[in-house]
Amino acid sequence: MADKRSEYVSSVASSEALQLYNEAVELFVNHKGSFIDLVKRAVEIENDFILARCLLGCMLCDVYSVPNPTEVKMHLDVVNECYPKANDREKLHIQTFREASLGHIKKATEILDQITMRYPQDFHAVKLSFLYYKSTGEFIRMRNILSRAVTHCPKEDPLYPHLLSQYAFSLEETNERQYAEELCRESLTLQPINPWASHTMAHIIEETKDPQKGVDFLCSTQEDWNKTPYAFHLLWHLSLYYLDLGQSDKVLDVFDAKMVPLLSKSSPVFYLVDLASLLWRLNLLNIDPDEKRWQVILDTYRSKIGVFSHSWVNAHLMMSLCYGKVTADTARLALANQVIQSMEVYSKESVSSDCSVADLLGVPVCNALLAYGQEKYDEVLSLMLPLRYDFIKFGGSWAQRQVFELTIIMAAIKANDLSQALALIIELKSQKPHNKMLESLYRRVLDESRLRIGVKTLNGTAAIET
Ligand SMILES: [Fe+2]
Repeated sequence: MADKRSEYVSSVASSEALQLYNEAVELFVNHKGSFIDLVKRAVEIENDFILARCLLGCMLCDVYSVPNPTEVKMHLDVVNECYPKANDREKLHIQTFREASLGHIKKATEILDQITMRYPQDFHAVKLSFLYYKSTGEFIRMRNILSRAVTHCPKEDPLYPHLLSQYAFSLEETNERQYAEELCRESLTLQPINPWASHTMAHIIEETKDPQKGVDFLCSTQEDWNKTPYAFHLLWHLSLYYLDLGQSDKVLDVFDAKMVPLLSKSSPVFYLVDLASLLWRLNLLNIDPDEKRWQVILDTYRSKIGVFSHSWVNAHLMMSLCYGKVTADTARLALANQVIQSMEVYSKESVSSDCSVADLLGVPVCNALLAYGQEKYDEVLSLMLPLRYDFIKFGGSWAQRQVFELTIIMAAIKANDLSQALALIIELKSQKPHNKMLESLYRRVLDESRLRIGVKTLNGTAAIET
């Protein structure tokens, strides 16, 4: 049966199942609601629906999904059975799913790249590659796939503004921020209710403009995004602007009044990343966010300790275990060591493409976060400083990964290595020239360094006089 939008053929018999799948792919791309239930209904109608099975299976292999090998196997068994009757496009989707199910996300993205070259309007493949590239940090590859999708998508297609905003995000992450802003504005003009465009604009402002402009943008457009699945993450961006303005009371207001009420035991894991990274930034800046706020995070995500293998998720779990002074808290120390041990085993024994990231980044960064909580700042520096050009392999975004750069800066300050701290602040400040928190940190460390140089000079002068 041919798809209405692209005319690509799927070996599906039920028009109702195909309709549900198409609606799901639209929601997958436009971020306006949950699409998984629609795909599940499509599979209930037609058990052998290859593309729907592959989409469900590949989503279970995403870094933020709770590992569920039984469900992955169930989908895999069906599509493997269907392989001989599948058409060429479906065969490539099955191969993608097979690789993803083994943790070979890089190989999966290579096949998705082939699919999108041959079938540029296969938005299932486009969006899946977008998600996977976001977890591997391969933003140039993401940009290339999105550039083709946008070029091939008719401007009158309702998905066009959403694909445009994802293309703009990839441009933002590859430092093409002026062009990214141009496309993002076009996307928002075409479709104001456009969660990913609001999100991309939040990133562009974060890196290039005064944080107050970010507050103004998100507050004035709140109606456009606050009921979408991206509301939580955009609240994180709003808090970040307040932090960058030095308004920590407002950061905590957003945390308490807007983010925490959205939490439940079934909250997605990307909420953990936002919550932990926000409180960890406060912790780094010696603004105590209060133990009970950390407890909210731990109460929600304690069951995920030892469950996830992905370095990105585990690094944020570690933050929620290593805040304040962790040395005397034996319960937290034990959990932190459990995370590190599970990552060490994973980095040595796994065959997934992510295990090399666990070896390169995950294990040392988690050890560094623990060292920070134990006030071993020299150890933090020796572990993290050589890695700062590799943080991109964590995936995420510049804004998210900057928490690690800030960790190194604050460790250097606390280790009394002010020249190193100053050098690192200048590096980060050059990426965020309007950031007021960094500017004030820079002034503080610069003044302190001058004071110390002054003391040395005075000592030197005294020595000469003597
Ligand atoms: Fe973001």
